[in-house]
Amino acid sequence: MDLIDCRMDGDIAVLTVNNPPVNAISAQMRRELWQSAEDLDADPDVRAVVLTCAGRTFIAGADVREFGQPPVEPHLPDLVDRIEQAGKPWIAAIHGTALGGGLEIAMGCRFRVAVPDARMGLPEVNLGIIPGASGTVRTPRLVGVPAAVDLVTSGKPWKAPQALKAGLIDEIVEGDLTEGALRFARAALSRDLPQPVSERPIEPQDDAFWSKAAEKVSKPGMQAQARAVESLRFATENPFPAAMAHEREIFTELRDSDQAAALRHVFFAERAAPRPPELKGIQPRDIGRVGIIGGGTMGAGIAVACRNAGLPVVMIERDQAAVARGLDNIRSILDGSVRRGKLTEAQLDDRMDGVEATQDYAALSDCDLVIEAVFEEIGVKRTVFDQVGRVCRDDAVLATNTSYLDPRRIFEGVAGPERCLGLHFFSPAHIMKLLEIVPTPDTAPEVLATAFSLAAKLGKMPVRAGICEGFIGNRIFKRYRAEAERLLVEGHSVEEVDAAMRDYGFRMGPFEAQDLSGLDIAFLQREGLRAEGQDVPDTLSDRLVRAGRKGQKTGGGWYDYAEGDRKPRPSEETRAVLAPHVGGTGGLSSQQIADRLVAAMADEGQQILSEGIASRASDIDLVEIHGYGFPRWTGGPMFASGVR
Ligand code: 3HC
Ligand code: NAI
Repeated sequence: MDLIDCRMDGDIAVLTVNNPPVNAISAQMRRELWQSAEDLDADPDVRAVVLTCAGRTFIAGADVREFGQPPVEPHLPDLVDRIEQAGKPWIAAIHGTALGGGLEIAMGCRFRVAVPDARMGLPEVNLGIIPGASGTVRTPRLVGVPAAVDLVTSGKPWKAPQALKAGLIDEIVEGDLTEGALRFARAALSRDLPQPVSERPIEPQDDAFWSKAAEKVSKPGMQAQARAVESLRFATENPFPAAMAHEREIFTELRDSDQAAALRHVFFAERAAPRPPELKGIQPRDIGRVGIIGGGTMGAGIAVACRNAGLPVVMIERDQAAVARGLDNIRSILDGSVRRGKLTEAQLDDRMDGVEATQDYAALSDCDLVIEAVFEEIGVKRTVFDQVGRVCRDDAVLATNTSYLDPRRIFEGVAGPERCLGLHFFSPAHIMKLLEIVPTPDTAPEVLATAFSLAAKLGKMPVRAGICEGFIGNRIFKRYRAEAERLLVEGHSVEEVDAAMRDYGFRMGPFEAQDLSGLDIAFLQREGLRAEGQDVPDTLSDRLVRAGRKGQKTGGGWYDYAEGDRKPRPSEETRAVLAPHVGGTGGLSSQQIADRLVAAMADEGQQILSEGIASRASDIDLVEIHGYGFPRWTGGPMFASGVR
């Protein structure tokens, strides 16, 4: 056998699965496990079987790459049944993660033991499917119905202690896992065996329980959660074989759906983006201390992101008053985390203790990385880097968080251009996952690799972007805004366009989103270009800004806002400002409006790809999903438009 090794320890067989990197269940693995069950049942010298895995994890689930292909026997549910029906008890010995089909195999075993930091879960809903090998049928029999509903519908894994408490595992093993599993097996053989999970009784729940469970998962968009509840309910109210057939039916239907294909696309996109092939083997530099210039919206958010990752921070501001404001900005973000129960007071103090704030650039002398987040003005940024260059170590990485400016111009004259690049965070920087990494032609591969390793440390989704106005994300957003304005000119209302994009799956439409972040940022950027002599025609939003309507912060933008209330209300004033410039008859349906806007984004994405600004279409999808709220279950604008 190629993927499974079998050795004997006395009268106990130890099966070790070795299918790197994550022991995903392929057709070959299913065949070999089945054959092992046959062989071990036939061997009179074997009294029990320990199932363990080599490498970094227990079985992480079915091989997602096989989902698009015709199914091959033995099927996973049959294999799980085969293991459960084995003549000798199997003991799953879990380290790393037992996920999806991996946990289903473990539930087919008579016992499960795990190391203290192991995690166990059923993440199938994140892939637009439900568990397909008894996850909705065995789990409620093992841990009870409410806990099973939580495990299956949240898609979030449990840590070993929680799994032990719920009865998902039987023991936590300290020290060597295989030794511990063997000890457990010997002790178990001296007692009566528990019932196989499929034969355990199930406690039915009433209608009210199921209505509540269904209501909790009835969010627009994602399809799998509601179907998982349906499958779990059926499993609690019907015999095991009928429940298995029912689960399989839903699983197969969902696996072949557009939504599951889209979510698989995102799954693989998220694994490809952080590891550009050209950086393979290149060692990143260590990042210990981070300097941040500017303690405004972005500087404070970036500081919190760094502190949350345990990195000490030096924040530089213009004068003492600005230093104090910057510290206040950081503290108020952390206060928010405490209010939401994400952080304790003690953790807040620890975060603040790791922040040094000063107006003295000399404090940057021992920083490994400096990120500039000052005003979006080329002159200010160049002056900043002039000062940074004088105090920083020669090998410190220098980064700008500019939204639109050309990093090559910002870094002109800085000694060591190979250590410079753009790191474009998104607001709020401590929450938003996206990080556009923008190398210049001079950036050294080692520096680029350092940026990707920083992203991993901060828990960000890095996407490599080339230099153009707005990089990937803001360039597509500009096109999106322009197309949305065109729909207004054609006679659609602000409310109609926003509602169409909410129906499509965005949390906010394009106009609500602009009101939230402020119309003045893009306005000022266009004004800058006009000041340089470029012919930039007025947009409708420019007209609103000129009328004093900059968004929520001025009490009105595309919509009106009552004092202290973020609820957008249709605005007569906006209608009056726009009236001379709009005039069409509208008439597109909500779906047609969304299609127009998504097509515009994909078209801009195509241009970005053809110019080499993005390396792959899937990177553009990630930018939109992680930076702009594009609904994940559509796969992103490129995937949704058929561009691969
Ligand atoms: N199938 C195929 N490939 C997989 C895979 C899977 N289930 N899980 C991970 N991989 C691949 C990744 O694509 C990546 O490949 P690459 O090196 O070529 O890019 C490699 O394994 C390593 O993955 P990560 O970078 O994610 O490694 P980490 O160590 O960061 O994380 C993990 C490991 C926690 C296991 C994570 O990979 C993960 O969450 N995997 C998905 C688990 C999952 O969704 N399982 C359910 C599958 S569906 C199922 O089981 C259906 C069943 O009910 C019938
Ligand atoms: P902001 O106006 O909130 O903060 C800028 C800060 O820089 C101010 O606190 C100011 O005192 C400080 N500053 C100015 N000159 C300085 C100097 N010479 N030395 C030290 N500090 C100085 O601006 P914001 O929104 O934080 O933007 C900063 C940068 O991040 C800009 O380049 C912007 O384009 C970019 N950005 C902004 C995003 C946003 O949503 N606000 C998103 C992504 C990038």
